Amino acid sequence: MAWQAKFMVQNGRIIPWEDGRIHPHALAITYAASVFEGIRAYRHPQTGAYSVFRLKEHLERIMQGVKIMRFENPPTMAEMERGILDLIPKNEPDDDVYIRLQVLVEGPGTQVTRGPTGWTVVAIPRERSPGFSRGLNLGVSSWTRISDNSMPPRVKAAANYHASRFVSMQAKADGYDGALILNSQGKVSEGPGACLFVIRDGRLLTPHRGSDILESVTRTTVIQVAREMGYTVEETTIDRTELYVADEAFMCGTGQELVPIASVDRLPVGDGKPGPIASALQAKYEALVRGTTNEHAEWRTAV
Ligand SMILES: Cc1ncc(COP(=O)(O)O)c(C=O)c1O
Repeated sequence: MAWQAKFMVQNGRIIPWEDGRIHPHALAITYAASVFEGIRAYRHPQTGAYSVFRLKEHLERIMQGVKIMRFENPPTMAEMERGILDLIPKNEPDDDVYIRLQVLVEGPGTQVTRGPTGWTVVAIPRERSPGFSRGLNLGVSSWTRISDNSMPPRVKAAANYHASRFVSMQAKADGYDGALILNSQGKVSEGPGACLFVIRDGRLLTPHRGSDILESVTRTTVIQVAREMGYTVEETTIDRTELYVADEAFMCGTGQELVPIASVDRLPVGDGKPGPIASALQAKYEALVRGTTNEHAEWRTAV
């Protein structure tokens, strides 16, 4: 990775990376009062121009999180958008950019303290998943997915990733690339940082939005694009054993992008290689995010 972040944004100001500050007694740390977005800006291979993929949808989702978390006086979507678009060129990237936007409670206080609310943006390099070409070897976790009546997965709260870390660390200790998680109903939910699609008999299946998933921007994108490509997509419940009999499967998310699954619990998915539908969708997604197609120009914000 050739470039390094030199600047960040804190409360609307661009500051040197090393000048970012948060007090150890801020509620963001004492009670994890923080919501965030992972967003990507892609470099066009010919022009070198950058565009941010589905920025509006990410900003809308963080505002939903801010509302549910009851943060006081949050930044506006326009302020956060400006911060992101100004920060990227300041860092002089020479490759794709991963952006993390956070809104958090900066002050000390009690469990009911709602402000003052601060916000930060960093723009850093991020490598592709090792499974991007070969496919991921996943295991079904023995941890249960968090649920809407205790730690709502719909909110992209930093605290939710306490549970995801347990899942990911277990998967690593067990020798997998990553994991899939069953919810409290015993149905497949998602991974610790990405959503799931399974392909059976030419149809795409994905856990429905009541399956304790994050309402993923990439999942919504894949559903729309797959339908435009002529595939049938069903939002439904998925059993663990459907993972074993699927023809193909893949994970999707802003950070993960679109990554085929090669095996689950050491059973091959299909023939254990990225399948034709996952590969076609992966190529389409790549063209859409990078802007090498004119389709869905409304999803790309020029930097
Ligand atoms: C738990 C979880 N599910 C799904 C996703 C994918 O969401 P999106 O496509 O909005 O990045 C993420 C990514 O951040 C995630 O952390």
